[in-house]
Amino acid sequence: MYKEKGEEIIKEWWDAASNYYQKEISSDKMADVQYGPFGSNERKLKLLGKIKGKKILELGCGGGQTSIALAKKGAICTGIDISYKQIEFARKNAKKEGVAVEFMELPFSKINRLRPKKFDVVISVMAIQYCTDTNLLLKNVKDLLVKNGIFVFSIEHPFYLLIDPNDMKIKESYFDVGLKIKKDKWPDKSIHYFAYYERKISDIVNIIINSGLKLERIIEPFDRQDKIWGMGYRRALVNKIAPTIIFKCRK
Ligand SMILES: C[S@@+](CC[C@H](N)C(=O)[O-])C[C@H]1O[C@@H](n2cnc3c(N)ncnc32)[C@H](O)[C@@H]1O
Repeated sequence: MYKEKGEEIIKEWWDAASNYYQKEISSDKMADVQYGPFGSNERKLKLLGKIKGKKILELGCGGGQTSIALAKKGAICTGIDISYKQIEFARKNAKKEGVAVEFMELPFSKINRLRPKKFDVVISVMAIQYCTDTNLLLKNVKDLLVKNGIFVFSIEHPFYLLIDPNDMKIKESYFDVGLKIKKDKWPDKSIHYFAYYERKISDIVNIIINSGLKLERIIEPFDRQDKIWGMGYRRALVNKIAPTIIFKCRK
């Protein structure tokens, strides 16, 4: 089903890591849109406008927390994700929270299958760094949006990824972009491969420009407290470069 090697590896990782990931993130994540580690929330940033009655598509929805938070505020939400395990969690979470959200196992590369549906808002939280073909994705996002529709996405800040939190030294080159694959040994001794794409800020901005979407704002938020995403982030580095960057675009 997945022609691209990157997409295949990424799906395998998220199917395998889903249990652990969902245990680690807090259920507070279902009360409001949380844009990413130390990355603030919709209540403070107000990027989406009025939510009630809006048709919202979430890309890379994971356990569905963002869509569920928006559905609680009256939005009509659809969430897609490549990982069947993450989608299973999303369906369970929606049932538990008593909201109706349509969750679908669908990769970024195939969101054109959602046509002829149209959305007022497309949102993605910390997922597009796993997208193989962002040019195609943004072109399809534009097609799926209504006129003046909003597209907001957060990803890991490209600067944050360069620095080793152990000694605060720059270990990677900003110019070394593309697919990164990291071998990981889990406590049960199984081997897994974590893959994602590194892109420069200019690459991301140019992808937005090429798609025909209008870039309205770039936000580099920093909330000192983060109870949602849990551990895994070293304070010393977070204090210097917060891990989240957000892009707001409009059709
Ligand atoms: C870091 S998680 C974020 C999940 C969720 N947005 C959240 O805030 O918890 C990244 C998600 O992107 C999904 N993903 C990765 N590659 C994808 C692809 N090609 N198509 C759709 N979803 C993808 C993963 O399965 C995973 O659920």
